[in-house]
Amino acid sequence: MLVATLAASSAGVFAADPEAGRRKSEPCAKCHGADGNATIAGTPSLAGQPTFFTHWQLIKFRDGRRKDAQMSPFAANLSDEDMADLAAFYAAQRPRARSSAIDPAKAAAGRELVTRHHCASCHTPTLAGQKQVPRLAGQDLQYLLKLLRGFKAQTASDLDGTMTMAAQPLTVDEIENVAHYCASLRP
Ligand code: HEC
Ligand code: HEC
Repeated sequence: MLVATLAASSAGVFAADPEAGRRKSEPCAKCHGADGNATIAGTPSLAGQPTFFTHWQLIKFRDGRRKDAQMSPFAANLSDEDMADLAAFYAAQRPRARSSAIDPAKAAAGRELVTRHHCASCHTPTLAGQKQVPRLAGQDLQYLLKLLRGFKAQTASDLDGTMTMAAQPLTVDEIENVAHYCASLRP
């Protein structure tokens, strides 16, 4: 029974169709960019994000566990297959750096904080993300700041609580520094 369930679910993962995802991403393009590289400050790029990460964020938006006035309506009617196809499409797109205004002194201070707080243990050494953990490298500065402040305040939606816990030791200034560092990295 268990084996059958696992086989069925892994078949589901491999059935994800990036080309179908490209078609389904048309309504998303005006905010996230046709290839998942957004240009609107505060709106995240999706290109190169791990498939599990994108899939899980869409599930959370659909179920109302993560809320955003702009984003939530676009997840409300997605099927699981739609989410898998969209996640596969965005994972296959090449991420580009955002045009964030980076303060080099803040980025340098942020680099030390990222080392001290072992952000790489989950986000990977290049901060490219893996599984349910997002890419941070080259993401939009305003978006990184918003999410980190939300995790610190324990108001951001968090799948398993690990990110809320990881943000607790950071002060207001340190959150700025860390965000500048992540945004400064080549994706
Ligand atoms: C009207 C603009 C808009 C449209 C259209 C839109 N989104 Fe979004 N999306 C946003 C914004 C803004 C956020 C950030 C929300 C927040 O601050 O928590 C977001 C967040 C996301 C996230 C989370 C990314 C992360 O790094 O946490 C995913 C995944 C996502 N959108 C996928 C999609 C998909 C797939 C579609 C199309 C079906 C879509 N979006 C359509 C504006 C939009
Ligand atoms: C124990 C694992 C873990 C550690 C350590 C960790 N993170 Fe995360 N992080 C996650 C996971 C998982 C998510 C996705 C949370 C969710 O939405 O469910 C996340 C999400 C984020 C996001 C939101 C990005 C987006 O696109 O939505 C930012 C920003 C972030 N982490 C920064 C950091 C920084 C900076 C550090 C170090 C101070 C750090 N993380 C340490 C696991 C971790």
